[in-house]
Amino acid sequence: MESATGIVILDFGSQYTQLIARRIRQQHVRSTIVPCTISPKDLGKLRPAGIILSGGPSSVFDEGAPRSDPAILKMGTPVLGICYGFQLISHQLGGTVRPAPHREYGRAQLEIIVGSGGSRLLRSLPSPLPVWNSHGDQIVKLPPGFRQTGKTETAVAAIEDPERRIYALQFHPEVHHTAHGDAILANFLFEICQAPADWTPKSFIEQTVASTRKTVGDGRALCALSGGVDSTVAATLVHRAIGDRLHCIFVDNGVLRQNEFSRVSAMLRRLGLNVTGVDASERFLRKLAGVTDPEEKRRIIGNEFIYVFEEQSTRLGEIEYLVQGTLYPDVIESVPVRGGPSATIKTHHNVGGLPKTMKLRLLEPLRELFKDEVRRVGADLDLDPEILNRQPFPGPGLAVRILGEVTRERLEMLRAADAIVDEEIREASLYESIWQSFAVLLPVRTVGVMGDQRTYGYTVAVRAVHSEDAMTADWVKLPYEVLERISNRIINEVQGVNRVVYDISSKPPSTIEWE
Ligand code: XMP
Repeated sequence: MESATGIVILDFGSQYTQLIARRIRQQHVRSTIVPCTISPKDLGKLRPAGIILSGGPSSVFDEGAPRSDPAILKMGTPVLGICYGFQLISHQLGGTVRPAPHREYGRAQLEIIVGSGGSRLLRSLPSPLPVWNSHGDQIVKLPPGFRQTGKTETAVAAIEDPERRIYALQFHPEVHHTAHGDAILANFLFEICQAPADWTPKSFIEQTVASTRKTVGDGRALCALSGGVDSTVAATLVHRAIGDRLHCIFVDNGVLRQNEFSRVSAMLRRLGLNVTGVDASERFLRKLAGVTDPEEKRRIIGNEFIYVFEEQSTRLGEIEYLVQGTLYPDVIESVPVRGGPSATIKTHHNVGGLPKTMKLRLLEPLRELFKDEVRRVGADLDLDPEILNRQPFPGPGLAVRILGEVTRERLEMLRAADAIVDEEIREASLYESIWQSFAVLLPVRTVGVMGDQRTYGYTVAVRAVHSEDAMTADWVKLPYEVLERISNRIINEVQGVNRVVYDISSKPPSTIEWE
């Protein structure tokens, strides 16, 4: 018999579904996310060692609440339900779920009640255990055959039927705020599912190269390179699979940073990729003229990008695939992953803004990875640390860092200010420890005084954040001397700017970019 593929996660729309997948990969076990509506037959084809039912924004009582086929609980494969998954299991197996009189959000203390048989899921954990909750319903009667293994002050928090190997937790073991969450998941993976620990960046590379070869066959692919780690890793992976049948295009969209087009073009050629540089700056800027709405800017830039690619593909003849370095955080904040039910925050251009007439099919080998995972894959592909450590830069570039209309004059100011931020952050040896550091041009003009003259100039906001995966971020406590140098230089060197402010907001509730 062939070995199992690892853990299959049924997505009920939680913002944390991918976090579950990632925590599992961190323990070197493969994980696959599928829509919660998957049939037991299709699920069986994946040969899972274990199944996880994710959380989700719904209540089991909501009309149209997502449901998985109850037969999945009878497949004999171990199951772990988390939050909504916990309530759904109870509901489908004959327990009673009710709206809770006290909704539980945030931190709670889990008291573990394992009794005489012990719990394989909660084995070796201290009690009480700080856990992280986010739910409005609770279980008031356990399903037949289940026992309670944990409770918080107000609710049943952990139940299991060890005979049927079905386990369920009201809290989220995948989030950072749950203490020993990794140990709970490890118990499920290894004690209960005996999942093989064979997922590594190397196995990801082998698998992706093999599946890309199979998908593309004798065809050819076009890759949109940006010079960032994501598209470079994606291109290198696909290049390994299909060699020179991959054609790379690097587009100057008019909203790149200072000297970026020439610098990045040279760097990409050094990698041995077959790259064509296309200067399309004029047409992008023409389309952006007069546009102030951020989502409209994203849509225009996304569409124009794809039109440029289509033209290039026509020029090259017979190309069917478009390779993009889309990562998971781009996906979760734009569209539900694989058809699951979660909310849109920003349409990141390379995911949300594809024109309906697009003729190229998408290849997105990094679609389920987080940035740090991509860097590890890149290191295994022997990519230069300079590429691997480049801070992320958004697809719509400076267009979402010039608030309001993008004009040549504003672009010039922002480029100059941004170059200063970049130089000073590198000079202070902070570049690699910071997730992103950059300048934003505000359309606000304020009064200043320079050389006894009144000025009425623009404001530049400086933003620097620490983050692990762009899902959450905290502002960096930059040393005052660095802030001082940045501010002095911008005001002295960038004509038209007379004020510099520092952004001290975290994500959430703010986002990293201002638009
Ligand atoms: P936010 O601003 O949503 O950004 O906190 C999260 C991460 O995504 C980048 N970003 C984008 N990347 N297209 C992209 O390719 C976009 O439209 C876009 N908007 C934001 C942002 O720089 C950060 O790394």
